[in-house]
Parts: sequence; structure tokens; C-alpha cells
Amino acid sequence: MKMEFKNKVVLVTGGARGIGKAIAKIFLQNGAKVFICDKEQKLCKNSKRKFGENSVIFNKCDVSKDEDFQAAYSECENKFKGLDILVNNAGIVDKDIRKLEAVNFKNGIAEYNKS
Ligand SMILES: NC(=O)c1ccc[n+]([C@@H]2O[C@H](COP(=O)([O-])OP(=O)(O)OC[C@H]3O[C@@H](n4cnc5c(N)ncnc54)[C@H](O)[C@@H]3O)[C@@H](O)[C@H]2O)c1
Repeated sequence: MKMEFKNKVVLVTGGARGIGKAIAKIFLQNGAKVFICDKEQKLCKNSKRKFGENSVIFNKCDVSKDEDFQAAYSECENKFKGLDILVNNAGIVDKDIRKLEAVNFKNGIAEYNKS
């Protein structure tokens, strides 16, 4: 199946490592511009080198904090002029049910969708 994502803007939460990083890479390989939100500041320098300075942006963001996600979303809109696809991948496994709920279910994205 051919995937057409040329110049589509994709926001991937939790895209610094693991499944999110793999998703970001596939979109980049298929021509998309990728905005990565992750609480770990591990900028994918290799991705910038490989896919171009203007194809990928990293934003340090904790998706469980509404203000963080709003700021990230605004930066994505300003720099990439829109948003086509949202991959809500960030998630944790934690014994503390409140922490788990804040990141996995009641994150800034959920709050944004309500508005
Ligand atoms: N790996 C599996 O077998 C598996 C199975 C089922 C579901 N999942 C889900 O898939 C998603 C990705 O899994 P993974 O194995 O790649 O996880 P991972 O722990 O390797 O990576 C998760 C990424 O999300 C980021 N992150 C965590 N909390 C965040 C927050 N509050 N704000 C911003 N970024 C945050 C982390 O820094 C990390 O880069 C998760 O939601 C996980 O629950 C994974």
C-alpha cells in the first residue's frame, strides 16, 4: 500500500523513543512534517540530519499538563501552519492510578478536544 503523506503535518506525543519514535520515522520517510512532543528532551538529531532541519520539530512537553500541550499545539500550528494528523501515543505504566489517569486518559489532548 502506498502512503501519501507529503507535507502533511503530524503531531506525535511520546515520540522521543519506542513506538512513538518508530511512528515518527515512518511518517518522515513518507514525506510528512513531524512535530514530536515528549517530556524527555532527547532531540532526534539523526532525524533532523536525515530528513531536513525543517521536517521535524521537537517540543519538550508533558501531555498531562494542559498548558504544556496548548503551548506545543500552538508552536506546531505556527511553525508548520496547521495540523493534519494527531498520534496520541504517550503513555505510562504506573502503580499510582492518578498519575496513570493524568497521562494516559485525562491529558492535555483530551482537554483540548473538549474545547
Ligand atoms: N510496548 C508495548 O508492548 C505496549 C503495549 C500496549 C500499549 N502500549 C502503549 O503504547 C505507547 C508507547 O509505548 P512504548 O513501549 O513505546 O513506551 P515507552 O515508555 O518506550 O515510550 C513512551 C514515550 O512517551 C513519553 N512520555 C511518557 N509520559 C509522557 C508525558 N506525560 N508527556 C509527554 N511524553 C511522555 C516518554 O518520555 C517516552 O518517550 C504507550 O502509550 C503504551 O502504554 C505499549
